[in-house]
Amino acid sequence: MTIIKSYKSLSLNGEILIPGDKSISHRSLILSSCAIGMSTISNLLESEDVFSTLNALKTLGVKIKKHNQVWNVYGNGLGSIAGFKGQLNLGNSGTGVRLLMGLISGCDCEATFVGDESLSKRPMKRVIEPLMQSGAQIESEENSLPVTIKGSKIPLPINFSSNMSSAQVKSAVLISGLTSSGRTNYYEPILSRDHTERMLEFMGAKIKTSSCEGKWKISMAGLPTLKSVDFKIPNDPSSASFPIVSALITPNSQIMIKEVLMNKLRIGFIKTLLEMGGKIDVVNEKYSNGEKIADLIVKSSKLNAINVPANRSPSMIDEYPILSVAASFAKGKTTFNGVEELKYKETNRIAEVVDNLNRLGIAASSTQNKIIITGNNHKVVKGGIEIDSKLDHRIAMSFLCMGFCSSQPIIIKRAQTIQTSFPNFLESMKKIGGNLIKSNQRLPK
Ligand code: S3P
Repeated sequence: MTIIKSYKSLSLNGEILIPGDKSISHRSLILSSCAIGMSTISNLLESEDVFSTLNALKTLGVKIKKHNQVWNVYGNGLGSIAGFKGQLNLGNSGTGVRLLMGLISGCDCEATFVGDESLSKRPMKRVIEPLMQSGAQIESEENSLPVTIKGSKIPLPINFSSNMSSAQVKSAVLISGLTSSGRTNYYEPILSRDHTERMLEFMGAKIKTSSCEGKWKISMAGLPTLKSVDFKIPNDPSSASFPIVSALITPNSQIMIKEVLMNKLRIGFIKTLLEMGGKIDVVNEKYSNGEKIADLIVKSSKLNAINVPANRSPSMIDEYPILSVAASFAKGKTTFNGVEELKYKETNRIAEVVDNLNRLGIAASSTQNKIIITGNNHKVVKGGIEIDSKLDHRIAMSFLCMGFCSSQPIIIKRAQTIQTSFPNFLESMKKIGGNLIKSNQRLPK
């Protein structure tokens, strides 16, 4: 087990390198596999989650090779997958498992999906239900892993209206629709991240997004010819959120983060931190591969509590743990509304955030769909506690960042989970002044 201890840090300064975006990395591998010809991917996030997807695609017979820092994916229009029968282990990756379920449901093959302790607890009904419409046969015990999918020989287009805004479910449905004739239609209440739509359009698919009877309708023409492309993955705003909040709460800090993805469906947390009084300058805005990117300059700030609206939730769904750290140091009571989906992440993040903040002496509580945090107005917290990550990388990184402003260290157990999304977190945070120490010591059983 890896243990990382986080100590009070004097200031954070300098430039920090952020890895490639996780959501776009998964999609670049999967969608390139569906194209005809060789696609190239540069700045792929080389983390455990993305390697889970990459290895699953290799198991499905897709040739993927790295050459001079660039990954080459030899797409054969899903030809190699036909006839496959076997197991796919997606480790900790919710995005990997759900998107690949979409792929398998529309192909003439059979796969059993398995994952780690955390992924095996996560709900799969949300993807199983719409994917059944394709004609795939899907078996599971109580809608969680292991899930076996026998794909449909002649997949039907899915027409599904969802009550939640989940980019994973939307993407699974669209990927399933790649092999069906006719239009695939998916409806969601608030627009979730749209990387799949953008990337598929870039490859030649025809997708229309419109508002329809109070929901967003995403509609794709079936059997598109996907051409191979060159993907350049922008840097991950969700990973950037950790040094951003760390610099805001640690006195005398100023950091720079370059070429961060600024897709508006991903940066609700920047909007929130700006409203709280965070000094974040967005400079050098430009476009890369159809996505907006920018450099960020972040300085220590006096943060004020705010009331964050529920409809912002899909655009900052992964950032609530680290935003809760920011709220803990703000002046006043912050309310995060519309957070019920957090229960179904790598852990129940509502419970993990509230319990651990309370253990650290911060007044935090929750209801079914709210987290309420009374900030300590920039005092240091006591620290001196051990927190089990429970295999949730964002819980691990969030509380390590909190340790930079605590008088006693915060100790994270099972910190190896950070490898799923931000493999260089420890070295990168240390380089800007974050006082982190890894100890490989084994705790007694
Ligand atoms: C993701 C979508 C989100 C997010 C996850 C990545 C994606 O999940 O929490 O980390 O890449 O599509 P949901 O779609 O379940 O909200």
